[in-house]
Amino acid sequence: MIVDTKTDPTLGFTSQDHETAFDSLPVEGELPRWLTGSLVRTGPAKFEVGDRPVRHWFDGLAMLHRYTFGDGEVSYGSRFLRSRAFRAAQEKGELRYQEFATDPCRSLFARASTLFRPALTDNGVVNVSRVGDEFIAMTETPLPVVFDPRTLEAAGVAYEPPGVLTTAHPHHDPVRRELVNFAAQLGPRSQYRFYAQRSRTEQRRLAKATVREPAYVHSFGMTERYLILAEGPFVVNPLKLALSGRPYIENYRWEPERGARFLVFERDGGALRGEYRTDAFFTFHHVNACERDGELVVDLCAYDDPSIIDALYLDRLRTGNDIPKARLRRFRLDLDGGRVNGEELADTDLELPRIDYRRRNGRSYRYVYGLAAHEEFVGRVVKVDVERGEHVGWSQDGCWAGEPVFVPEPGRDEEDAGVLLSVVLDAGRGESFLLVLDAKTLEERARARVPHRVPFSFHGQFFGGELPS
Ligand code: CO
Repeated sequence: MIVDTKTDPTLGFTSQDHETAFDSLPVEGELPRWLTGSLVRTGPAKFEVGDRPVRHWFDGLAMLHRYTFGDGEVSYGSRFLRSRAFRAAQEKGELRYQEFATDPCRSLFARASTLFRPALTDNGVVNVSRVGDEFIAMTETPLPVVFDPRTLEAAGVAYEPPGVLTTAHPHHDPVRRELVNFAAQLGPRSQYRFYAQRSRTEQRRLAKATVREPAYVHSFGMTERYLILAEGPFVVNPLKLALSGRPYIENYRWEPERGARFLVFERDGGALRGEYRTDAFFTFHHVNACERDGELVVDLCAYDDPSIIDALYLDRLRTGNDIPKARLRRFRLDLDGGRVNGEELADTDLELPRIDYRRRNGRSYRYVYGLAAHEEFVGRVVKVDVERGEHVGWSQDGCWAGEPVFVPEPGRDEEDAGVLLSVVLDAGRGESFLLVLDAKTLEERARARVPHRVPFSFHGQFFGGELPS
């Protein structure tokens, strides 16, 4: 039994070595009877390899978490993602693959021999998804790892995206039943590429554009007709990336004088529909996009610069630094005229945005859910009405909520009829709980206590109904 003495959010960045399983968590309040399915999340849970700490929050070794709902009850299970990066770390007691901001210890000779074939990590720490019948855990390397959603056992790399970088935020095309994602191929002639993945073996290229110095891309937007790349001026020289000997993300440079641009591609045929320039900003997360009156409306969580990446180094997180906050911004792209207008949608910060994805992605929508600042970190659940700019929130002293995942109530049409599921760290108790909020009011409906703490995770998805075995 680990006794935790910290009562602040740094407990969420502390290793959790125990894999656990509970058939039924104690519930306060009442879980909706209609809530049937599983919330599966991934996030870093081990922050040391051997006796060496990793440097950045994104470098922690991934743990999968499953919360399965049915008959008014909820079970929980956790398991480290047994990627090759994880297995090598276990067996050798050291990091063997390049992570986001931590490199393996290795001699200059060994480094030179891997220059153009870097040992990329498959540590699927960022997000999970489903392609065909398979569940995958993803990071930003082209190595999505298949796992069994019931047992959380890993089963190797699923497929190879067409590039050395990709995103952990694929879109879903419900008509073609495929994932749509972005990749970047780096080299003397670098290229942005969009592709669709229908199964392990079925991959199509959708669009491409050459680029001299690729930007860091974490997500993108998609409407019925368009793919939207928001390219902030946080860029990398591919040759320097290969030669510098510095950890991956530390090769990117911020060049605000270049400004930002939106590249809009046609999903059908892949033609570049337009290039739209505006002032510099940095983003991790698109919220939604839609076409309206000859304009493309693109909503995202924007920062003034990429200093958020520096703020997420573990030594800074653990000393309670001030974290830059993202603003919910709307850009309106005049599709034929080339103009871009930007505005802020609410007077609250917002990150880890979620919408009613299945019914609203690529269409006009009204509500976004996410996290806002709370007690020296981020951990207040917020709901923003993007039409009116109004917002409501949920928070509790000494507790930090994670990304709120919206689950619609079956048979109801209102956009916000349903619940939000968020894993909350209760630092005072040294435990976490799964919080169920009414998505209309953000009033608490139930909480299910996990009898230990669950480290903060980035993203998760709700898979309705029974999980396949
Ligand atoms: Co993300």
